[in-house]
Amino acid sequence: MPEETKPIPPSTFKVTIDNITIDVPVGTTVLNAARKIGGDVAPPAMCYYSKLQGSGGKCRTCLVEIAAGSTVDPRPMPKLVASCRTTVMDGMIVKNITSDKVKDARAGVVEFLLLNHPLDCPICDQAGECHLQDLGYEHGKEGTRYEFARRTFTKEDIGPYIQLHMTRCILCYRCTYVADQLTDKRVHGILDRGEHAEISTYISKAIDNDFSGNMIDVCPVGALTDKTFRFKNRVWFTKPVDAHRNCTTPGCCGKTTLWLRGDEVYRVTARKDEWGEVQSYDGKPGWICNECRFDKKKTGDWVVEGLTKINRHSVISQGNYDGLVIPKETIQEVMGGRDPKILMDIHDESEVNEPGIHLSEINGPAHSDTFATNP
Ligand code: SF4
Ligand code: FES
Repeated sequence: MPEETKPIPPSTFKVTIDNITIDVPVGTTVLNAARKIGGDVAPPAMCYYSKLQGSGGKCRTCLVEIAAGSTVDPRPMPKLVASCRTTVMDGMIVKNITSDKVKDARAGVVEFLLLNHPLDCPICDQAGECHLQDLGYEHGKEGTRYEFARRTFTKEDIGPYIQLHMTRCILCYRCTYVADQLTDKRVHGILDRGEHAEISTYISKAIDNDFSGNMIDVCPVGALTDKTFRFKNRVWFTKPVDAHRNCTTPGCCGKTTLWLRGDEVYRVTARKDEWGEVQSYDGKPGWICNECRFDKKKTGDWVVEGLTKINRHSVISQGNYDGLVIPKETIQEVMGGRDPKILMDIHDESEVNEPGIHLSEINGPAHSDTFATNP
């Protein structure tokens, strides 16, 4: 008898997110599948960082609704799930910006994150590139229901180059993963629990090793800041350029962004991708060493490649630099050749837009008279 042939397991799964269907490799998380689609369909992520193993699952900003679990079991999941920790199943249907439940939950998460976070954006060095500031603008509420005293901490110098402003920390754990995965030995972590939890060095030991500066790059808020740049300038007044040098520190990619004012180098950071994470080169994250970041503050130390491409939504693009990414002309181009799909039904948004009247048939801007029964 012929031996029974086992079916070959599929290598990709089909997943539909906000009405857009794509194929992704088995094992992909919902968040990374949504990032493949891009734009607003990708949920925000304050603690997940693709280059740091084990990150994610702490902040709950990436919550999504699973409207159907899979083709085999199409039941919806009863609660919203963290998209950074949930892997896709074949035939899964996910709702992010098309879900009112998600929008409501995300507003709640932002309210929680801001319970103890000071609203000191006008004096914070992270302003203009802070993910919590962006979330606050997109989902925040104008008031707070919190009536108790906020947690406050004194500022702490951890090592010669980094200042910790714990009052701003949202306990995303990213910096501890950097210390665990990039540096020889970790001397800081989360001490205590609950309301008292804080990032600190144990008995004020200094963080002093070649790659500690990467903690500043991964911090989504202004809790860890560069002491060589603090209060020197607002990021949107500086001009970012891509530069590289032949760095000999093992593990340093030597590729950076210089933040200039005139010819003066105010700050050196790793180069970031569209998700605010360090870019990868040859499949490896482009971490930079402390020598490149803190000691090479002259343009002569670097080979300048050209203006950094800045997302047009970023406040840093307000200077209209030549390197600005100009939006593509057509929706198909923006969506990687795919046809636009319906993301939202306009009739859900406004009662004025009666289902019987097709908006494309109206000449000029529509207003309430257009929809009156007897105009
Ligand atoms: S200091 Fe920054 S990176 Fe570290 S846990 Fe707090 S918010 Fe996250
Ligand atoms: S990004 Fe998913 S829980 Fe924080």
